Amino acid sequence: LTDSTLVLYVVGAGGHGRELHSYIKDLRSAGWKGQLRGYLDDTVSPGRHGSLDVLGSIGSLNCPSAHYITAFGSNILRREIVARLRSSYAESLRPWVLLHPKAYLGNEVEIGYGTCIAPGTTITANVRIGNHCIVNVNASVSHDCTLGDFVNINPGAIVCGRVNIGEGAYIGAGAVLKEGISIGQWSVIGAGAVVICDIPANVTAVGTPARVVKRH
Ligand SMILES: CC(C)(COP(=O)(O)OP(=O)(O)OC[C@H]1O[C@@H](n2cnc3c(N)ncnc32)[C@H](O)[C@@H]1OP(=O)(O)O)[C@@H](O)C(=O)NCCC(=O)NCCS
Repeated sequence: LTDSTLVLYVVGAGGHGRELHSYIKDLRSAGWKGQLRGYLDDTVSPGRHGSLDVLGSIGSLNCPSAHYITAFGSNILRREIVARLRSSYAESLRPWVLLHPKAYLGNEVEIGYGTCIAPGTTITANVRIGNHCIVNVNASVSHDCTLGDFVNINPGAIVCGRVNIGEGAYIGAGAVLKEGISIGQWSVIGAGAVVICDIPANVTAVGTPARVVKRH
């Protein structure tokens, strides 16, 4: 929190990027001392963007010695961007964890690098969250859950205890995952779904109770 030498870039200047900028302001009010430089984005011209500058494209930094946080809701896109950053910058640009001061973390919670824990989230006890995940506004993740890398838990989703969520799974806003179930890798759970049994990998499931409607 107090490392004033930490230099940070937000990769992606879309809606989620602007949200991250707000969260970083909240962190600053709570005592964070790092230096937020601006956004990197391939699709927005450099210059003022909301209340922060777009500095250039994703690959435009020169030997940065800094940290980044990605701001893409799509898990596949986030994975692609992380791979690009790794190949462009290796260890000179490293993923950072954004832990909002208004998130609740209980005992034995592990959070992987590059992950964003948004305001109002509750993560109770003995939870493992992978790298480059998003646990979005007001979501809750209960005891003994495991989230793989590149998972996105959208706003207001409720993950009950002992749920195992595979890499790249996307849990829609307000979905409820019953205790003890598994969600397969890269599967998508629709907004508002109530999932009461295991969901295989690479499918979309929607509704109450959730049923598979697509295989991809
Ligand atoms: C599940 C979801 C990804 C499906 O998107 P898609 O792959 O484009 O699928 P479609 O829109 O073609 O829908 C397929 C079918 O599922 C139904 N469906 C889609 N989403 C649904 C949902 N959330 N609940 C119930 N039914 C849903 C559609 O009506 C359609 O039914 P039909 O075949 O009988 O017409 C999307 O609707 C969704 O819920 N996304 C989550 C959004 C979210 O949480 N955003 C948070 C941003 S912060």
